[in-house]
Amino acid sequence: MIIRVLGSGAGGGCPQWNCNCRNCASVRSGKPGFVARTQSSLAVSANGADWVLLNASPDLRQQIEAAPVFTPGNGALRASPIKAVVLTNGDVDHIAGLINLREAQPFSVYATPRVLDVIKSNSVFGILAAGIVARIPLELGLSVPLAGAGTDLGLTIEAFDVPGKIALYLEDAAAGPGFGTQPGDTIGLKISDAATGESFFYVPGCAEVDPALERRLKGASLIFFDGTLYADDEMIHQGLLDKSGERMGHVSISGPRGSISAFGDLEVGRKIYVHINNSNPVLDANSAERRAVEAAGWEIGYDGMEVRL
Ligand code: MLT
Ligand code: MN
Ligand code: ZN
Repeated sequence: MIIRVLGSGAGGGCPQWNCNCRNCASVRSGKPGFVARTQSSLAVSANGADWVLLNASPDLRQQIEAAPVFTPGNGALRASPIKAVVLTNGDVDHIAGLINLREAQPFSVYATPRVLDVIKSNSVFGILAAGIVARIPLELGLSVPLAGAGTDLGLTIEAFDVPGKIALYLEDAAAGPGFGTQPGDTIGLKISDAATGESFFYVPGCAEVDPALERRLKGASLIFFDGTLYADDEMIHQGLLDKSGERMGHVSISGPRGSISAFGDLEVGRKIYVHINNSNPVLDANSAERRAVEAAGWEIGYDGMEVRL
């Protein structure tokens, strides 16, 4: 199984179009220790030829063209190795790229009924005609084989609910502290190679590593996990946005309830942060925060990173 990080950034990427924070400015000026990051997505393949995208970011067109393996190759006049897309929530950075996949190319979209409803109720996604692009509901806790465009991908996925928040643009302030969040709004995925049994986890958005998630992840060989923020209040501190990580539905990396601490006893073989926000000091390869993360056994995902299982 081949896993490729298409985009390691969070919403907006780095640099973000309207941002002049330290990280964004440093990437733009080519400062050593900083690299550009597109928005949040992975691609997975069992055979190296047929691929499933885990989330479809607004940068998808650029991500496809960045690697020949995702382009049509020299085959049919119209073709794509991308056979399926799995969505982990309805956030803009995870679904807007679906629109790039128009042009009457068959593939499958897997998501929970909650997220499929978001796609259905936004008429722009109707550009993916239902007769060509299949919508396949994911049931939480059930392992299903992935297929698309008549191709069995040789992979199975299990979706499971994780603590999180409904998409920002769907927040209902009148609905109380959860803003209307329901089960299925934010999921994690376990992806397995059907032939080898090798598996990994993908949890790009997570508000808290709770006991259920701990039990599920214990002893896993590989995880790509929510690395949005290093500190819960970093966006407020930097004057970027008046919101904490907790308010945004993202557990931070540091702190007593942060992910470094939460994964301390979980014996996960390889731990890679993705969905890293442009405010995060770990994006500076020479920062103390980067050293702290690496000393704790974590890796910082980057665009084009490839892992083979
Ligand atoms: C998130 O990860 O919290 C969202 O992508 C935020 C957003 O939609 O801007
Ligand atoms: Mn996001
Ligand atoms: Zn920035």
